[in-house]
Amino acid sequence: MLRCTNHFFKRPLCRFSKLQHNNRTAPNTLSNFSIKQQIITKIKVRGPITFAEYMKDVLLNPQGGYYMHRDVFGDKGDFITSPELSQMFGELLAVWFINEWSKAGSPKPLQIVELGPGRGTLCYDMLRVMSRFNLLDKTSVHLVEVSPHLTKLQADLLCSNGAASFGVPISWHKHLKDVPDQFAFYLAHEFFDALPIHQFKKTEHGYREILIDVDPVQESKLRFVLSPTETAVGKFFLSTDESREFVEVCPEGLTLAEGLAKRIESYGGLGLIVDYGHEGQGRDTFRAFKNHKLHDPLIEPGTADLTADVDFEAMKKVMCGTNEVLVYGPVSQRTFLMNMGIECRLENLRKNAKPEQIESLDYSYGMLVDPDKMGDRFKFLAVVPSTLSVILNKYPICGFS
Ligand SMILES: C[S@@+](CC[C@H](N)C(=O)[O-])C[C@H]1O[C@@H](n2cnc3c(N)ncnc32)[C@H](O)[C@@H]1O
Repeated sequence: MLRCTNHFFKRPLCRFSKLQHNNRTAPNTLSNFSIKQQIITKIKVRGPITFAEYMKDVLLNPQGGYYMHRDVFGDKGDFITSPELSQMFGELLAVWFINEWSKAGSPKPLQIVELGPGRGTLCYDMLRVMSRFNLLDKTSVHLVEVSPHLTKLQADLLCSNGAASFGVPISWHKHLKDVPDQFAFYLAHEFFDALPIHQFKKTEHGYREILIDVDPVQESKLRFVLSPTETAVGKFFLSTDESREFVEVCPEGLTLAEGLAKRIESYGGLGLIVDYGHEGQGRDTFRAFKNHKLHDPLIEPGTADLTADVDFEAMKKVMCGTNEVLVYGPVSQRTFLMNMGIECRLENLRKNAKPEQIESLDYSYGMLVDPDKMGDRFKFLAVVPSTLSVILNKYPICGFS
């Protein structure tokens, strides 16, 4: 099984830098039209809205939200992700879980929980590896997904192709809190970057939240404005020694990360969070992607992906805060995959590949690990219960050293 052609991943670029606009006009569908209209009406009634509210409306509106009714990945979509590029990615993540799970005594029953599984490809690759090692008895899969369309794609891939024959029951949930309380592998790949953020700008009066308003001159247009006073989110989340010009916070992501750590502490489990992000020094990272290019986030809402870098430092802080867990990383994707033996896996696949497949394998390997491609931008963070500390002192966690 090989995947990959010539692809773009979500590259970072500043929203206030010159944007590379896409010349193609968006399909003027009723649903897209209605999201914009709904947002404009809401702003006219209630006043300017936060980035977080805008992101939620644009991505998850049940009628026309970006993720709700389309396949957004690959050549015909807007971006490519690592599991879609190559089977090696999911295989090495499966090997990591199996290895660390064995240090915990390989407890069963086991749940594989994936947040935001996209097409289901990563889960499929992990199940394939686990099935190869006969590890799937007393195992269930729990997919946390809000998109009806992506849920169907996941079911098509996992139920008709693979998991049914693996004999693994699969359940879908709208939220992590709906997943049964049990020992689990938790996996979140390019999930946290899709969660709604708030953005703040430093001014001479202190930090002010950036909001989205209707342009008073042209009422069909949206624009950024600054809140006249401090907002509640700013008061609660911004630290007094903050000095960056722009600051982003993701309360929903932090709450989820804390909930994940609490589950791992209470019921056992292993978590891997993989995303692009920074360690507390990120600034203005909010951006939109359409057809593999940067796009103006305020134009044609619902037709482009909206995303922001994950603040791994803030995430680590909430996870470790009151929970008895150990957090490792973040380390770069290149470091993790190299430590997990991606070069050996590549060599093995190359040996059995046809000449045209070798080119494609080399290409996807380069995309995954090259520092100027996905190798440095994407980061891995692991969470394990602190009860594993004794064994991890003796047999250090894989992938992170
Ligand atoms: C960028 S995609 C990543 C997909 C996949 N993990 C991959 O790497 O190919 C984000 C995924 O998260 C889902 N998603 C976004 N917001 C969500 C939310 N609040 N709750 C659950 N799933 C969400 C999307 O529908 C989609 O499946």
